[in-house]
Amino acid sequence: MAYSEKVMDHFTNPRNVGEMENADGIGEVGNPKCGDIMKMYIKVDNDVITDVSFKTFGCGAAIATSSMATELVKGKTIPEALQLTNKAVMEALDGLPPVKVHCSVLAEQAIKAALSDYYQKQGIDPEPIVGKISECEECHFEEE
Ligand code: FES
Repeated sequence: MAYSEKVMDHFTNPRNVGEMENADGIGEVGNPKCGDIMKMYIKVDNDVITDVSFKTFGCGAAIATSSMATELVKGKTIPEALQLTNKAVMEALDGLPPVKVHCSVLAEQAIKAALSDYYQKQGIDPEPIVGKISECEECHFEEE
């Protein structure tokens, strides 16, 4: 399966790339199998994600899915952002090849990790709100 036009668009022209100064929350997640790392920065005002950006050492699909994920959570409330699934990100991109599904999980987890960090910084236990940030369950790479 080839990449959709939307994936190619977000890969070649990713939105919201870069570090953010004075971020209210920073999340970093990694996939130990492929070694890719995703870092997500958020700004929160009154429970609304007013700004979001990302940096990734990841593959093309990781870049495209994080770019789309940032677009989908920008301007949303925290409860709305927490409902964002990797499936929704993939749908918004018109699909991903099956071997690349795990890359979209990285984007979803990075947003949750950034929100966790945000709550921790406020002295609030994030787990009841954000849940556990688990390792990517779809990453079943064959060991070399
Ligand atoms: Fe690891 Fe795409 S994020 S291969």
